[in-house]
Amino acid sequence: MGVVVLDFGSQYTHLIVRRLRELGVSATVLPGDSPWEEIGAQKPAAVILSGGPASVLDPDAPRPDPRLLSSGLPILGICYGMQLLANLLGGEVIRSGRREYGRSRLDWYEGPLFRGLAGEVEVWMSHSDAVVSPPPGWRAAAGTDDCPVAAMAAPDGKCFGVQFHPEVVHTSHGKEILENFLDLAGVPRDRNPEGILARLVAEVRERVGKDRVLLGVSGGVDSCTLALLLAAAGAEHLAVFVDHGLLREGEREEVERALRSLGVNLRVVDAKDRFLAVLQGVVDPEEKRRVIGREFVRVFEEVAREGGPFRYLAQGTLYPDVIESAGSTGAANIKSHHNVGGLPERLGFELLEPFRDLFKDEVREVARLLGLPEELRLRHPFPGPGLAVRIVGEVTEDRLRVLRRADAVLVRALREAGLYGEVWQAFCVLLPVRAVGVVGDRRHYGYVVALRAVTSVDGMTADWARLPHEFLDEVARRITRQVPEVGRVVLDITSKPPATIEWE
Ligand code: XMP
Repeated sequence: MGVVVLDFGSQYTHLIVRRLRELGVSATVLPGDSPWEEIGAQKPAAVILSGGPASVLDPDAPRPDPRLLSSGLPILGICYGMQLLANLLGGEVIRSGRREYGRSRLDWYEGPLFRGLAGEVEVWMSHSDAVVSPPPGWRAAAGTDDCPVAAMAAPDGKCFGVQFHPEVVHTSHGKEILENFLDLAGVPRDRNPEGILARLVAEVRERVGKDRVLLGVSGGVDSCTLALLLAAAGAEHLAVFVDHGLLREGEREEVERALRSLGVNLRVVDAKDRFLAVLQGVVDPEEKRRVIGREFVRVFEEVAREGGPFRYLAQGTLYPDVIESAGSTGAANIKSHHNVGGLPERLGFELLEPFRDLFKDEVREVARLLGLPEELRLRHPFPGPGLAVRIVGEVTEDRLRVLRRADAVLVRALREAGLYGEVWQAFCVLLPVRAVGVVGDRRHYGYVVALRAVTSVDGMTADWARLPHEFLDEVARRITRQVPEVGRVVLDITSKPPATIEWE
């Protein structure tokens, strides 16, 4: 009983879902031209028509099933979605001949969709067609200079159209506008972590039954939470944690302690020597990733064969991963990210991906309910190839030791200063150069460590974090004091793009 979002190809469709979730509403995305039976099967309380690149004046433009429009369900049309409503219900849409794009301001607005708003409302526009008259009985509810019908309302008080995008952050009060629609439509706001967890447990029980499940645990919040979910659902499972020797200080012990104490059947494989051996002499970053990925699959496969047979391979795939691999965000493959690719087919596993429709923050909430300690739950993201991609050049045991210690000093300092949660990621990178310094009266050639700290929303773009100078000063002192092999600490002040977050 949530909202069905009919997707007409807008780049913002998944932001609509995100906003709805934030407002405690369940949301499902279906293709814009889905038959009414599929929409009805979701038993939606309301439907949102997304934006999209097509023109409703084009005879081949995608359209919703006409039965939706006579169903009596509350509908909100956004951008192209509003133009569809106008076009299909007898209003008038024209090709305006120019594209309105970017920030704009509503000159006026009125009615229940804007309840509670006062003063200026900035909106994000991205369209070239425009509604010039709403369907019979509907009225214009907002306007701008360029767009006389920037919003419209149906006589039933439950159907609306907005030419702008309330789902993007550039629309001030966008969330309130969506909230007003949900209230007017009577959509229940009942999505909460407890409900999500109960549903996940029920789904895992039903799907897995008495079969066995294998999963890889990386130490990240997604795979740890998945292991806890399998344990909580009583599924027979084996969680495999491959210690490739490229982990952060104390990471393996922390994961072991937390998961075992919460009933996870965990097997830790110490494969440090194997990984060091295959990494010997490898300096090319992509080659490093390939070598590590290959070795990881080998180790995992051995464990799977020994401990098998398993019917399912569980993976902590999240909703944004699903969108990305479906290609709708157009994410290019900049780096070959590391996972157990290829394994499911080779070993004949069926994939179990209970988090496929969750966002990261929702997984974190579920993790809290399942008892995952805060240090693990709120830990910064960490790449699969671990510290190997933070050592520029060859990975050696000596370099790993130096980097691990420097990194631990940084993280401890961040926590002490209350800054850990303020940044998306903060870590040290070991550079393959030695710089000169003086220690006592002697020349000293030490490693150079770069500090990398970024703020980000999703890791796709990032800005370097403006950490206080006093804090940076303290960290540089502590690192050079506590890790004597390090002679110099420098700061990376590049954002993404053009750089990436990791150095390799
Ligand atoms: P980049 O360096 O591409 O990183 O800007 C974006 C985010 O992804 C993480 N990252 C990885 N995560 N396997 C992972 O699981 C990888 O191979 C990998 N490489 C980068 C990175 O830490 C950042 O959060």
